[in-house]
Amino acid sequence: MRNHRLDITPTSGALGAIIEGIDLSEPLEDAEIAEMRGALNDHGVIFFRDQKITPEQHIAFAERFGNIDVNRFFKAAAGYPQVAEVRKEPGQKTNIGGGWHTDHSYDQVPALGSILLARETPTRGGDTLFACMNRAYEALSDGLKKTLEGLRAVHSSRHVFGEKSSYAKDAGDRLGNADAATQDAVHPVVLRHPESGKKILYVNSGFTTHFVGWTAEESAPLLRYLYEHAARPEFQYRFQWHDGSIAFWDNRSTWHYAVNDYDGERRLMHRITIAGGPLE
Ligand code: SIN
Repeated sequence: MRNHRLDITPTSGALGAIIEGIDLSEPLEDAEIAEMRGALNDHGVIFFRDQKITPEQHIAFAERFGNIDVNRFFKAAAGYPQVAEVRKEPGQKTNIGGGWHTDHSYDQVPALGSILLARETPTRGGDTLFACMNRAYEALSDGLKKTLEGLRAVHSSRHVFGEKSSYAKDAGDRLGNADAATQDAVHPVVLRHPESGKKILYVNSGFTTHFVGWTAEESAPLLRYLYEHAARPEFQYRFQWHDGSIAFWDNRSTWHYAVNDYDGERRLMHRITIAGGPLE
């Protein structure tokens, strides 16, 4: 039995915390998992460094936080259907996740979070940006907050993973199952985080298409304003990867953006996504 509390240090004024002094290849105590969950609620994304874990250990770690939500579009790591590969080869131009988004918002019940493990990192670049959607919400005027409270928005996978998507075409065999891109979901534009109780701005430029009862054209100016506002540097943290780094983010309270600045080099990540609950 370990007797220490986790060593948790915030990474920026906006979001993120690094957890040190823990080896995720070892069995973890319930108290440690509870502390990690608390840190995830408090900081939106938690990071670990130098973790030498097998895919089995990655899966076992994820399962301590909930059931695994297998992504139907990403190619899986060989032999591990629960582990999605986020890969860019030296000869490829398009990366996966190279725009602000939150995973699985197109699902009726969006994922709780994702645990991304760096297997092979480029010599430089390939960072991931994270943004805090509680800070983004809180910084809005009372007038706009009031308007948004009454709105719901449609999120879709069709334009990203469907047959007509140029992104899916460019990604080649790294993405598939285009005919399964039929999900549209409606979620509140402002939600209360199911665990922390904080208010969250819940639209994202990857998957949100329009406000319910508004056309896409009518929705576009307000959505554009919200995207620009929420992507302000004050709400962000930029994470630099090394082999064995892990980022575990909350898909309700954060956005992320994989920076595509390492052409000619390989970047290979393993992602496991954890199922969430209905959003209010
Ligand atoms: C993702 O969008 O899930 C991938 C993020 C990354 O590769 O940094």
